[in-house]
Amino acid sequence: MVADATHYGFAQLICDEMAASAQARGTGIARRSPDYIVEKMHEGKAVIAFDDQGFWAGFCYVESWSHGQYVANSGLIVAPPYRKYGLARLIKKRVFELSRELFPQAKIFGLTTGLAVMKINSDLGYEPVTYSELTQDEAFWKGCQSCINYPILLSKERKNCLCTAMLFEPPVVAAAGPAGIAAEAPESMCLSTENL
Ligand SMILES: CC(C)(COP(=O)(O)OP(=O)(O)OC[C@H]1O[C@@H](n2cnc3c(N)ncnc32)[C@H](O)[C@@H]1OP(=O)(O)O)[C@@H](O)C(=O)NCCC(=O)NCCS
Repeated sequence: MVADATHYGFAQLICDEMAASAQARGTGIARRSPDYIVEKMHEGKAVIAFDDQGFWAGFCYVESWSHGQYVANSGLIVAPPYRKYGLARLIKKRVFELSRELFPQAKIFGLTTGLAVMKINSDLGYEPVTYSELTQDEAFWKGCQSCINYPILLSKERKNCLCTAMLFEPPVVAAAGPAGIAAEAPESMCLSTENL
């Protein structure tokens, strides 16, 4: 479900599990504060999952960058007892739909070292890309500063790091002609959202 004010109390637990999971995997992660998680819930940009007894089971949120041209689905976490049952797939699907509802024109991207996330993203229509295709918004890359691999990102001049970048590009809708019929673009013409 989309998280709201009734879920603020879970922010600390979510942050703790994110940090513990990253440590257990020995991988880098951009650290999030409970306040940041609460902010995402407050904005209606977070998806939270519970089991049928009300125990917290998973979480993910939407971030927008470059003035809404790009969206990232970040902070995916499934509580250990609920892993390998398809929950991450369900959460990612919901957060993807939420991103499309909130930012229909935006490109959706993710950075991950995890095979599970790569599989899920591929099935949602993401494709692997180089970092040059991602947002160049400084505020996004600042989030990587808290990752243990940040020196690697810097040494590669932000062109590469240990995470795989994946991108979903929204379908381009052709502009309607005078009779309300979608204009047909010549094959050589590249349509952009600026034409909409
Ligand atoms: C990664 C994580 C979110 C997966 O959650 P999950 O609910 O177990 O995932 P699902 O059951 O929906 O599995 C989705 C797919 O990934 C695969 N998968 C799940 N965990 C995996 C793992 N550790 N390694 C490789 N593949 C994995 C599943 O087999 C499934 O693939 P399939 O449908 O082709 O069989 C969960 O393990 C987690 O929270 N880990 C710690 C935090 C983390 O790594 N977050 C991602 C940061 S980018």
